[in-house]
Amino acid sequence: MNIEGSVALVTGSTRGIGRGIALKLAEHGAKLVINYRSNEDAAKLMEKTLSEMGVDYIIVKADVSNFLEAGRLVNEVLENFGVIDILVNNAGIFKATRFDELTWEEWDKIIKVNLYSVFNVTRWVVPHMIKRGKGVIINISSISSSIRSSKCMPYPGRVAYVASKSGVNGFTLALARELAPYGIRVNAVAPGLIATELIKNVPSLEERVKEVPIGRIGKPEEIGEAVVFLVKNDYVSGEILVVSGGE
Ligand SMILES: NC(=O)c1ccc[n+]([C@@H]2O[C@H](COP(=O)([O-])OP(=O)(O)OC[C@H]3O[C@@H](n4cnc5c(N)ncnc54)[C@H](OP(=O)(O)O)[C@@H]3O)[C@@H](O)[C@H]2O)c1
Repeated sequence: MNIEGSVALVTGSTRGIGRGIALKLAEHGAKLVINYRSNEDAAKLMEKTLSEMGVDYIIVKADVSNFLEAGRLVNEVLENFGVIDILVNNAGIFKATRFDELTWEEWDKIIKVNLYSVFNVTRWVVPHMIKRGKGVIINISSISSSIRSSKCMPYPGRVAYVASKSGVNGFTLALARELAPYGIRVNAVAPGLIATELIKNVPSLEERVKEVPIGRIGKPEEIGEAVVFLVKNDYVSGEILVVSGGE
């Protein structure tokens, strides 16, 4: 898909990886829908950056773990831009808690923010994309979903996060099959360690970085570049692209 002039909705895009993805798409000429949940300072900073860049954008505060809020977000996009060409389901949270200390509430929250949100926004967007016979959906998973190979798995406390991101992978593959006949491609990016506030919650971070073959933490824009590739290449669907410094 040609990114120039397209409309891209990126959830959780005022900070971190979502911000990196949004800025890369803007560099390639996309109009942006920025979304966040509560951090007003990060939202203002993102607005300032986009205004300075001269990007055509709107910013919508909505908790995408809630189905009706996700619907309100999608409606606002359609009211403002009329179309949605690209959906990036990026919003997510991470917390490491040993399983014997993991409460139902924490499990529920992680699954809702990381997995339900992907269903919620996608479910509102897909009928619109089917009607137009085109669209690209990219879900942000995690290398920790590849539990057999990922180095981060010896560390405890990942059950809820891994379950949510494994769900995202399965969702991606099944939906890609179902939507291909309608001209809609669905892929995921599975980042390794990326420099954002989220990794402050990663236990033994210094040890983890030593396990990255390329020897450093990744940058949000490097995930943005992977998203740009997946948007542009019209023959890639049902893939989970790992971007992890060689892990
Ligand atoms: N960083 C890594 O190393 C890494 C590795 C693998 C995968 N990932 C995945 O990459 C994605 C982004 O992570 P990140 O590191 O960029 O996180 P981050 O720096 O904590 O940023 C998270 C962003 O998501 C928004 N958000 C969180 N919950 C939301 C909700 N319910 N509704 C709407 N927006 C919400 C936040 O908004 P507020 O500012 O308002 O809270 C913020 O804009 C996540 O899915 C994460 O699991 C990250």
